[in-house]
Amino acid sequence: MNPSTEIENGLPLDMIIFGGMGDLAMRKLLPALYMAFLHGNLPATTRIVSTGRQDFDREAYLAHVEENSRSFITQSAFNDKTWDGFLKLLEYVRLDVQAAPDFGGLAQVSRPGAQRVFYLSTAPALFTIICDKLAAAGLVDGNARVVLEKPLGHDLPSAIEINEAVGKHFAESQIYRIDHYLGKETVQNLMVLRFGNSILEPLWRAPNISSVQITVAEELGVGSRAGFYDGTGAMRDMLQNHLLQLLCIVAMEPPTSLNADAVRDEKLKVLRSLRRFTLADIARDTVRGQYTHGVSGNQEVEGYLEERNVPEDSKTETFVALRTYIDTWRWSKVPFYLRTGKRMQRRSSKIVVEFANPPFPLFPDAPGGVANRLVIELQPEEAIKLQIMAKQPGSGMQMQQVTLNLDLQSAFQQRRAEAYERLLIDVVRGRLTHFMRRDELEAAWAWADPIINGWTTLGEKPHPYPAGSWGPAESFALLARDGHAWVE
Ligand code: BG6
Repeated sequence: MNPSTEIENGLPLDMIIFGGMGDLAMRKLLPALYMAFLHGNLPATTRIVSTGRQDFDREAYLAHVEENSRSFITQSAFNDKTWDGFLKLLEYVRLDVQAAPDFGGLAQVSRPGAQRVFYLSTAPALFTIICDKLAAAGLVDGNARVVLEKPLGHDLPSAIEINEAVGKHFAESQIYRIDHYLGKETVQNLMVLRFGNSILEPLWRAPNISSVQITVAEELGVGSRAGFYDGTGAMRDMLQNHLLQLLCIVAMEPPTSLNADAVRDEKLKVLRSLRRFTLADIARDTVRGQYTHGVSGNQEVEGYLEERNVPEDSKTETFVALRTYIDTWRWSKVPFYLRTGKRMQRRSSKIVVEFANPPFPLFPDAPGGVANRLVIELQPEEAIKLQIMAKQPGSGMQMQQVTLNLDLQSAFQQRRAEAYERLLIDVVRGRLTHFMRRDELEAAWAWADPIINGWTTLGEKPHPYPAGSWGPAESFALLARDGHAWVE
């Protein structure tokens, strides 16, 4: 479809951002909307209405955006004329979410009959009151869409509560639950790799695949977010959502179409087939870590407990590794190793699919280890590599592992949009495929909750690991005992 016809549905677009003065809005949302505007992916009628509690007028708000958001736009994409045009789309409404009259003020600014997109980038505790008040102010109609930023609850009951509250006013087809990993180019490419090719599918199962590793390693520490992070930890912040979504895409059955529900049905089946952890499983198959003082990016950095706003006896994990299984025919007995952490040696997210070695050792000089791996590097660089055995030149049959490297950077010259830009365009165009459905979110919590509760019951402190390392030694032991090793 021609993009311009796809984005114009005849209704003026009002994008209304709650938490519009916040960090996410400044660092990610406005820059993403600028990029969408630059590339003609916003309807000509777009207005972006930021709400916040500050008593700003429009001029003061625009000055705030200049100061706090502009620098997050890629330099090469910035130009003054487009920026001025973009600023013309922006409005500011002072709004206290507790105050019903303020919603009346918002209703006066939003155009009658507009396609309204409400982006809730506030603490999730406010989602209920915002949705109730939007509805009471007559702002929610059949065309409205609501985007929910994570964290969507901190456990299953709180996630259900949010879903119920939002569901009172919005149908499921109007709700866009963001997991920004689903907006990453490389993650979407994984779907194409799996389902746009036929050569992988016959091999994509037990016993041909012997294990799968998913790593999302961050170099950054907790920064200024301790207030949020200390009550959250790596399991809730990263694994329950981003890593499980990656796992779903690796493990799902081929969907019958790219229709949102067809894709989400298959992901849901994976989440529901994840083996539940008992206390014994938790003690044996999970590792929690917390970074200590160390060197990261050539700089000495503090340990988690020394970071601002972190209680000195905090047991919050900044690292988690675990082994899990998907109890289906396809994945029977295949371990999935998941790992994520802050202040790791470097930023690196990858999926490593290890294939079973040849069943018969024909070559006496085989180097041992895993013969074939498919490595999908998600960030910082995108790459897909297949490791295979080849013969070393010369007499004899010496083997060596070589790498087939799909050179995606030179195959595609096109710009790669940031995850938020891509997802915001999807919201504008009404595409739900890369957003989480309610039952998916709840299934993910239903799996994660017993693990988090089990850690509390076991009462163990997280294992320390120096900043700038690959996590605690126990994480290596987790794989070593199965004869595997993390691929860095
Ligand atoms: C967010 C987490 O969802 O993802 C952050 O809350 C984390 O703690 C971030 O740093 C990582 O995202 P990315 O895109 O930088 O890998």
